[in-house]
Amino acid sequence: MCTTNRDGMKKVCIVGASGKLGQYMVQHALERGYEVIGVCRERSVGKLDTFEGRITVIPGATDDREVIQKAVAGCDGVLTVLVPWGIHQYSSGTAQAVLDLARPGARLIFSCGWHITRDGQDVYSRTFKTVVKIFGWLARLIRVEELDDQVEACRRVFASDSRWTVVRGSKLEEGESQGLPVWSRHVGDPILISNITRRVDFALFMVAALENDELIHEAPAIVGRHDPQ
Ligand SMILES: NC(=O)c1ccc[n+]([C@@H]2O[C@H](COP(=O)([O-])OP(=O)(O)OC[C@H]3O[C@@H](n4cnc5c(N)ncnc54)[C@H](OP(=O)(O)O)[C@@H]3O)[C@@H](O)[C@H]2O)c1
Repeated sequence: MCTTNRDGMKKVCIVGASGKLGQYMVQHALERGYEVIGVCRERSVGKLDTFEGRITVIPGATDDREVIQKAVAGCDGVLTVLVPWGIHQYSSGTAQAVLDLARPGARLIFSCGWHITRDGQDVYSRTFKTVVKIFGWLARLIRVEELDDQVEACRRVFASDSRWTVVRGSKLEEGESQGLPVWSRHVGDPILISNITRRVDFALFMVAALENDELIHEAPAIVGRHDPQ
């Protein structure tokens, strides 16, 4: 179903469109009637076959400034999946390219995990801290370097005066939509107790944020609604 989007937001770019989160964002963006430009690695283009003829795909590394420049041209909004690990500053390179090359005034929405903190006021459970520690240790063990590169990517976004929102996802699961997730400025808020979000709803929150000015310069930590809407 194609609905008419509100005035202003017409063309959006999805950086990292071929991933699980990216594909859900493409779906939501098309349903809202946006023109969609998707960026993904060359080898992943086939994952977007279901959208053939409905979106424009620009293949390439998402930290390639030429690729991003072409992709974000004329876009009113950019939705960026920040890869949580990587080599050669992939995540921060992607964020920097989007910050530098999106048109001034464009809405920029980035995804990351709860472990990112903007102001240090997040309160993490002991279990959460243990999981992050083990994940970091394993990453070093298998030599997936730069686990902290998503942290650096977000630091750059937070320092930017662009119209950004950083959406911080909790544990993700697949399944039917439960509606727009709830959010808080800080992890530790009782509203976030469930610690789980459907991936389709993470994508919904990101796409809805394009037209929610209350989320500008916010880093909402989100969780899914329990009751299907
Ligand atoms: N998974 C979780 O439990 C969880 C929890 C909280 C927050 N998040 C956040 O949610 C977002 C999406 O995460 P996801 O786990 O659901 O994964 P996802 O949507 O499948 O996204 C993974 C992305 O990383 C890219 N990628 C994978 N390996 C790569 C590599 N070696 N080099 C370059 N790019 C690579 C993928 O591109 P290709 O399609 O080209 O492979 C894809 O765009 C992330 O920002 C993450 O921080 C995830």
